[in-house]
Amino acid sequence: MNPDAQIIVLDAGGQYCHLIARKVRDLGVYAEVRASETPACELASARGIVISGGPSSVYDPGSPTVDPAIFSCGVPVFGICYGQQLMAHLLGGEVRKGERGEYGMATLEMDPVSDALFEGLGGRQQVWMSHRDAVAGLPEGFSTAGRTATCAIAAMAAPGKKLYAVQFHPEVVHTERGREYLANFVFRVCGCRKDWDPRGRAPMLEREIRDAVGGRSVFFFVSGGVDSSVAFALCTRALGESRVRGVYVDTGLMREGESEFVGRLAGVAVEPAAEQFLSALKGVTEPERKRHIIGEEFVRVQERIMAERGLAEGSWILGQGTIYPDTIESGGTANAAVIKTHHNRVEGIRKLIEAGRIVEPLKSFYKDEVREVGRELGLPSELLERHPFPGPGLAIRCLCSEVDAPLRATADGYIVPVNSVGVQGDSRSYAPVLAIDALDHERATALINRLPGINRVIGSVRTRVPISRMQVRAGFLTPQRIARLPLADAAIRRLSQRAGFDQRVWQFPVILIPLGASAEFPDSVVLRPVDSVDGMTARSVSIDPALLQEMCAELFQQEGIAGVFLDLTHKPPGTIEWE
Ligand code: XMP
Repeated sequence: MNPDAQIIVLDAGGQYCHLIARKVRDLGVYAEVRASETPACELASARGIVISGGPSSVYDPGSPTVDPAIFSCGVPVFGICYGQQLMAHLLGGEVRKGERGEYGMATLEMDPVSDALFEGLGGRQQVWMSHRDAVAGLPEGFSTAGRTATCAIAAMAAPGKKLYAVQFHPEVVHTERGREYLANFVFRVCGCRKDWDPRGRAPMLEREIRDAVGGRSVFFFVSGGVDSSVAFALCTRALGESRVRGVYVDTGLMREGESEFVGRLAGVAVEPAAEQFLSALKGVTEPERKRHIIGEEFVRVQERIMAERGLAEGSWILGQGTIYPDTIESGGTANAAVIKTHHNRVEGIRKLIEAGRIVEPLKSFYKDEVREVGRELGLPSELLERHPFPGPGLAIRCLCSEVDAPLRATADGYIVPVNSVGVQGDSRSYAPVLAIDALDHERATALINRLPGINRVIGSVRTRVPISRMQVRAGFLTPQRIARLPLADAAIRRLSQRAGFDQRVWQFPVILIPLGASAEFPDSVVLRPVDSVDGMTARSVSIDPALLQEMCAELFQQEGIAGVFLDLTHKPPGTIEWE
């Protein structure tokens, strides 16, 4: 049984509320998320309230709000990002509507104040920003505690009323002293005691699995990734091998050598289904359609296998390795915007969930926590340390275009008319990419903040012809194009492992985009090495020039490749995967 929550995080939309709750739990204090409109009287037993960030503007009709009585009920309140704007707005301050906003790293200058929340946090520090609007006028009784170059009120406080707020995100790892802000709030301001130990979770999870499954059996899709492997192992431990059947689906969209790896390590049956998936995806270019189709084809495979084996409907349920971020970015929480639909959150799966026919033991865990559970179960590190790989596979790393289209030259670089998905101020963006001829991350961040209409910047590493002579060429999910990707991916993985570079990154997607030099060389490869803790935010990582040249040399030996680029975009504003 979980203890009563000492800290309540009010969900003002998007992913941040859960990240905050988890960071508070990491401090050893049990926290829960509630709807933002929860009446103040239901929050009175908490020791502290946090209002999370979110994609809305306080001026949007229907934007999330809170019961204003929370500001005077004696419980300390900490507003973060949108939470700060909402606090200012509801207490009579001024919020200015932003045009483009501020995304990514910023330098915060904190006053050397000594009250509880900001104690010991004076001086310059790196913070993570993701917002459009900002507080422009303080509510009565508040004073400014910190600022950045573009945000005059980046932190504010009314210590007498125990009200505090910041525009940046202390819950995100890239805010270097973020943990201290949360710890000050939880311990100094709210006086919480430690009551939550994240270790030793496996027995509790196994009990939950047995409760959910009852007398039925579990049919489990195993992908070879960390999440499904850990969830599968938990189910097997909870129910015994005879009641859990694992299947690995070969969708034809897997990395080179993957089916062999899974067969060897997980020891599950391989279901060949490449033709089925590729014909369902024929002519499809739009990312969300790809994701829906792939998710639904998984459901079809499951139905087919059940029918073939004569398994009756009521006697089994489906097991999945869904983890927390999968449900968030698919719009799984009350106020969250749909950024990407995960393959295990499509309509067919939702129906099974509603019918109580799915078990997802890890659905409130984050990647790093899943690895912890896996270690507790004694799974091999060869499996647990694998980089994450998306369920829809290479389909969402093979970008398509329905038409030939020229690049547009600008003073800053070339706009490539290939759209990719981004997350800006917690909303989804789908916009063209800018190609520049420098591998400069800072410039890339500045360009995205300055230029409306792009959400991603790539730096050119090597191209067969000058970028000015390249163009986007019509390209679909054809067997020929798909075949280029596992080859390129395998070459990069091999070089990256040999140089020890794979240990320095959290994930390293290799993407194919239809940016070509000629009919003979119709595609380019984009390298996307990122560092992250949980995939919720990520930093784009640079590659040593010698290694980069080796990678280019290998890729240029492959058929069809016109250029190699490095993705310079952090998350936000670009997501890790392009689609
Ligand atoms: P994004 O691209 O949203 O990805 O920044 C965050 C993390 O999630 C992985 N990812 C997926 N994993 N099914 C999955 O199991 C999916 O549909 C999916 N889409 C993205 C991605 O690889 C990254 O690690």
